Amino acid sequence: MSKVQIEHLYKRYENADEDTLKDINLAIDNEEFISIIGPSGCGKSTLLRCFAGLEKITRGKILIDGKRFDNIPPQKRRIAMVFQDYALYPHMTVYNNIAFNLKLSKLSKETIDTKVKEAAARLGLSDFLKRKPAQLSGGQRQRVALGRALVRDPKIFLMDEPLSNLDAKLRVSTRQDIIVMHQQLKTVTIYVTHDQAEAMAMSDKILLMRDGVVQQYGSPNQLYDQPRNLFVARFIGSPSMNILRGTLDSKGIFSTGSQRYNLNGIIDQALLPDNSRKIVLGFRPEKAAQVAVSKRLPGKQTKDKYFSFEAEKTLAEYMGSHTLVYLKTDGGTNIVVETVEKIADESNVKKLWIDVKAQDIYFFDEQTGLNLRDVAER
Ligand SMILES: Nc1ncnc2c1ncn2[C@@H]1O[C@H](COP(=O)(O)OP(=O)(O)OP(=O)(O)O)[C@@H](O)[C@H]1O
Ligand SMILES: [Mg+2]
Repeated sequence: MSKVQIEHLYKRYENADEDTLKDINLAIDNEEFISIIGPSGCGKSTLLRCFAGLEKITRGKILIDGKRFDNIPPQKRRIAMVFQDYALYPHMTVYNNIAFNLKLSKLSKETIDTKVKEAAARLGLSDFLKRKPAQLSGGQRQRVALGRALVRDPKIFLMDEPLSNLDAKLRVSTRQDIIVMHQQLKTVTIYVTHDQAEAMAMSDKILLMRDGVVQQYGSPNQLYDQPRNLFVARFIGSPSMNILRGTLDSKGIFSTGSQRYNLNGIIDQALLPDNSRKIVLGFRPEKAAQVAVSKRLPGKQTKDKYFSFEAEKTLAEYMGSHTLVYLKTDGGTNIVVETVEKIADESNVKKLWIDVKAQDIYFFDEQTGLNLRDVAER
């Protein structure tokens, strides 16, 4: 149970002409589970390796409970790391795999035995202790790797894409094992994944990086509802947020392709430019308040304002609980909406009206990508 702080951390690899991690600042509270996500090569593993002491940081500090941590030798850091290729010892039993690191310490045989059996019980491995890794399923092997980390009683768990070798179903069940384990142990866990849905499901907080720079750090909810910029908005959520690129003028008219929309009542007055400004309008596929064949606004009796537009249906994918409808706007932009309305499936329906509540519309600056509401508030 530790409080972690990262302050102005930079990492540059030897012979590299650029920093791989740039000014990372981060606070992790006691007992928190955080995920690091971002595109391949953005620095996720590097940050984790800096934590573990496998890489030296170039500048900045890592503190745990207020004490300097980055200058402690790796073997004294009391950190347990689980990697993607969990590398079990094939000739050893599950028991000995889990016990391996403990045997190197000076613990008594009885203590080791208790710890191994406790960990095995926690991970549902009690019946497999005498087996060798080759006699286990992928998920069971992954749990042995977790067990091996667990018995070390670490201050912090570091996990680098631990589930990526598992098939979709096993991923879900093993990630639930990890969540339950975290709920019981309450050890700070830093979990690297490139799967945003996994990060959303598991974490107290998500750190989203791009090119070694933190894009946003906050609860899954914050990243989803209040993305700092267009990159965050598009990275979180599946299918990705729809965007329409265009120009906004001082009177609230938004021109995109050949289309013009009046955004009065939809965009806050404070966001209207003096002359004109290139912006990106965004909304999530699941926020289509209505998908209909004709323009009949659902909110007539309420005070809600809607952004409404007509678009041509190109494809509908029936998903069981909902349908994904792919459309092309009159301005020529491809979008997708998620709806439960059956109308979308009908093959004779070509044109559809889409209504999105004003509050579900996002505005970003075309150049900086920043969320304009955020900028206006600050
Ligand atoms: N030892 C090294 N020396 C020089 N550059 C390195 C070294 N290790 C990693 N890099 C570079 O640092 C950047 C970040 O790598 P890192 O492994 O942290 O990315 P990642 O976010 O974990 O990516 P992935 O999702 O593919 O695992 C990459 O551009 C990579 O090429
Ligand atoms: Mg990596």
